[in-house]
Amino acid sequence: MARMTVNDRPVEFLLDGDTPLLWALRDAANLTGTKYGCGVGDCGACMVHVDGEVLRSCLVTIAEAEGRVVTTIEGLSADRTHPVQQAMVAEQAIQCGFCTPGIVMAAAALLKSNSAPSEGEIKAAIRNLCRCGVQPRLVRAIERAGRVARRVETISAAPAPGISSRDAKSSVPAFGNSNDKDQSR
Ligand code: FES
Ligand code: FES
Repeated sequence: MARMTVNDRPVEFLLDGDTPLLWALRDAANLTGTKYGCGVGDCGACMVHVDGEVLRSCLVTIAEAEGRVVTTIEGLSADRTHPVQQAMVAEQAIQCGFCTPGIVMAAAALLKSNSAPSEGEIKAAIRNLCRCGVQPRLVRAIERAGRVARRVETISAAPAPGISSRDAKSSVPAFGNSNDKDQSR
């Protein structure tokens, strides 16, 4: 069992403390935007923010995340208009999209500490693997996201998909939430 804040909501996972945060988010909280790629810390598909720091959720247990603030791709922006999300779409830096959530979380963390990163800084910070080969477009997208973050450029937001944030989570036995008293436990 572990309690933490996930996407601004207090949650209690009724799971063994050794459970990787990745599985708690995906299987218990139904936050499937966080992807399972390698499970051993190599690919970055599972990246989330924990207390504002970008971490590979496959390498963090829920016991280690106890009491911490976790943000997944679903919680990065309420309306999918984070500058990195906008720029990734505008620069067509997405192919199959499997690696995209992890890359967006890594890039968002980078821009938070450095809104005008150089090409070298971007390549050093974004080590995520992409089997579709979007890396050449990533530098352009992240530089552009930085300009949006610095308010020197605007991008029209991409149309939101027809899935509400609320629908991204469903009631499952392993997920307890003090805000949802009617949830199965
Ligand atoms: S699934 Fe976590 S780094 Fe690959
Ligand atoms: S876009 Fe397909 S793995 Fe990166």
